[in-house]
Amino acid sequence: MSKKPIILGIETSCDETAASIITENDQGIPVILSNIVSSQIDVHKEFGGVVPELAARAHLNKIDWIVQKAIDESGFKADKIDAIASTAGPGLIVCLSVGLSFGKSFASAMNIPFISVNHLEGHALSPKLNSKLDYPYLLLLISGGHSQYLSVKGIGNYKRLGTTIDDALGEAFDKTAKLLGVEFPGGPQIEVLAEKGDQNKYLLPKPIFNKGGCNLSFAGLKTAVLKISKNIKTEKDKFDIAASFQRTILEIMYKKTKNAFAEYEKNNLKNKTFVVAGGVAANKKIRSMLIKLCDENNFKSVFPPINLCGDNAAMIAMVGLEKFKMRQFDNLDYPAKPRWPLDESAAFLKGAGVKL
Ligand code: KG4
Ligand code: ZN
Repeated sequence: MSKKPIILGIETSCDETAASIITENDQGIPVILSNIVSSQIDVHKEFGGVVPELAARAHLNKIDWIVQKAIDESGFKADKIDAIASTAGPGLIVCLSVGLSFGKSFASAMNIPFISVNHLEGHALSPKLNSKLDYPYLLLLISGGHSQYLSVKGIGNYKRLGTTIDDALGEAFDKTAKLLGVEFPGGPQIEVLAEKGDQNKYLLPKPIFNKGGCNLSFAGLKTAVLKISKNIKTEKDKFDIAASFQRTILEIMYKKTKNAFAEYEKNNLKNKTFVVAGGVAANKKIRSMLIKLCDENNFKSVFPPINLCGDNAAMIAMVGLEKFKMRQFDNLDYPAKPRWPLDESAAFLKGAGVKL
């Protein structure tokens, strides 16, 4: 039996300091040996959002012991690690630099390969940590900074089918939460408030809903919520806004995902598998709506477990494992990349005036 690779993943692209060790079993199924995530919510709460310099300082303070904890919990000694994978982008440059430099130094000191990882590819491959997943597949990536439909044909092989032209979906949840006076990070709280509200109370706009294709737009929704939030008098008003907001998102995502299915099939991609990843994939209402849509359209739906939807280092180690097996290593001068789209050939789309 050949020795299975042991990969250390490191993630510091935004406000989570994370380290994880993974390997695989004899059937080639990934096994998470440790997965440590330290959130900085308390550092940023009073500012209502992530402050880059404070985030970088918090990463610097914690990275040593987070990595040490991941190694200790894995049950292996550091000298058994075969490669180190660090997030190199996209993200806040001051934050990325911490995990990237740490990973490079560690790899150099241990004389093992270093692998740079695209954070978005980590999300894209996160379902592989608990499901068998064959290429190609249609991916919906919904996080705090990105909302995209992509066809995925393999590692590093992405074609963007649609994207947001303004806010990301997670950002829309976070901004709505802020307008309702919910503490940072408010996105997940909208789901909780919505449970208690009347989802038909407010009619909110659905920007570019009737245009073809699967591009998305959420900025108009935020403006509408801003207007009605000025008249909030009771807690019930907040629940109703949250519920109406979430219902509108469900309607938008239902229609645009259906369009994305058509785009995917137009590209002659036969494997009807739909993967949903990123922080917003933790939303149970969005999950169940997309599962229903997949059933109606004969797509197989695949989600990462809820605890691996948000930022973590197991997903970074997952990309590291695949690249390790393909001997895709990087030099120690690999730069941090604040902007690093999965489909580098896709045009930059921004703004309401954009032609769709
Ligand atoms: O993937 P992620 O952890 O970080 C980024 O790479 O951006 O995603 C974080 C985003 C935040 O905007 C957060 O509000 C959103 O995911 N989010 C949710 C839920 N849980 C996290 N949005 C809606 N419902 C949730 N349950
Ligand atoms: Zn993320």
